[in-house]
Amino acid sequence: MKEVSTIVILFGGSGDLAHRKLYPALYSLYQQGLIKNHFAVIGTARRPWSHEYFQNQVVKAVKEANGNVEEKEVKEFASHFYYQSHDVIDVEHYIALKELASELDKKYQAQGNRIFYMAMAPHFFETIASHIKDQQLLGSGFNRLVIEKPFGHDLATAEKLNQAISASFPEDTVYRIDHYLGKEMVQNIMPFRFSNSLIEKIWNKNSINNIQVTLAESLGVGTRGGYYDGAGALRDMVQNHIFQIITLLAMGRPSDLTSEAIHQKKQELLASLVIPTPAEIKKSFVRGQYLAGSNHPDYRHEDQVDENSMTETFVAGKVQFAAGPVAQIPIYFRTGKDMKEKLSRIDIVLNKEQPLYGEAKEDVISIIIDPVAAISMMINGKKITGSALRLENINYEFSSKEMDEVPDGYVRLLRDVFLADRTNFTHWQELKQYWRFVDAVEETWQTENESGVEMDFYHPGEMGPKKADDIFESSDQHWIFN
Ligand code: BG6
Repeated sequence: MKEVSTIVILFGGSGDLAHRKLYPALYSLYQQGLIKNHFAVIGTARRPWSHEYFQNQVVKAVKEANGNVEEKEVKEFASHFYYQSHDVIDVEHYIALKELASELDKKYQAQGNRIFYMAMAPHFFETIASHIKDQQLLGSGFNRLVIEKPFGHDLATAEKLNQAISASFPEDTVYRIDHYLGKEMVQNIMPFRFSNSLIEKIWNKNSINNIQVTLAESLGVGTRGGYYDGAGALRDMVQNHIFQIITLLAMGRPSDLTSEAIHQKKQELLASLVIPTPAEIKKSFVRGQYLAGSNHPDYRHEDQVDENSMTETFVAGKVQFAAGPVAQIPIYFRTGKDMKEKLSRIDIVLNKEQPLYGEAKEDVISIIIDPVAAISMMINGKKITGSALRLENINYEFSSKEMDEVPDGYVRLLRDVFLADRTNFTHWQELKQYWRFVDAVEETWQTENESGVEMDFYHPGEMGPKKADDIFESSDQHWIFN
């Protein structure tokens, strides 16, 4: 594999994401030979670490993620890591960072290439972006920006942030991470849809009755109450992960598999995203909060959560497009903390056939993303009864036995950054549409809050508040997974 020469500048080098995901992912790329001799990583954060201490942390992170690794190789990998203690608002620190980057560029012959990675508290993103420009941190080769979520808090703040980063990074050099786009079965949605004539023929508004996306989590907010209470399920999961999945499910067939063609189709679809009215939001959206469980208090008494909090830990709702293969078809979604189990799945519910055999149920095609990767089909068949002809619902499930060998999403996404493939990253035009939708829902909820409308509640282990079962357009629609 051809090596990519570059200096990576990582803001948030002492953070949890870097430790759990980024260092192991970079190590995997190192083993693949994508980075080898001509790279260095500068980790920056507030803590006053030495290079040596940082390198030990990197070794530790790789070992924790991989179990058995060859000591000599990990140490050689970690020797490419340097640490720069950094206060994001201090100009001098950017100057020092720039000097270290040029020094390492010479040492490793990185050809002036730079990857900037923002993996820290989002309220610093804009400041860092401005300093990268003002203190001229860009290299003389390629410059790319990788940025974690959340990208803004609403459309207005996202626009402001985008302006700040676009002063140094044109859109085609920005890699907005959505880690769901690195997941095996999310990456499988397009091949599944566009390489099977069986599937492609039914993927239209005449055959599909409704689509359901469920991203359920079994844990509460834990130690993340501070962040979460300012976000909520809609911003934390719907604005990004759920919308990206829905976009892949509803977009038209791209002309080819280039990143440009795929993003063009996504944007074409999103231009037809129906922004719900307040009346529709009241009817088709449900927000909820979890109550106390055996090992945690109710949400309002979690650490760093406001005791009168109106932040939702669960949301269910509906998305529709005016154009595209499934135009007007309701796409229902739900996501929440502290639900029945950790499960990410998509259910495509087909229209029922005329019942020649009596009790036929609707056919359902499901794409299971987590905890296993699988595709299943619930279809009708003859029940083996011996005599009378009776129907039963049969589940055919295809799951991959090789899932253990599937690389972590971050390995794929980082690899794409090194190879300049933006297919699996969020484009600004997509993000803008997602925010327009989310803002409309947030505004309606805000008005409800002001008029004293209370949230719905649910017990840990349930699939959200009971009211989430009533958001369907027609009485024969219901959640497939319960
Ligand atoms: C993150 C959210 O983006 O996704 C978390 O901020 C959530 O709140 C997580 O727990 C879920 O990701 P996964 O891959 O565990 O389903």
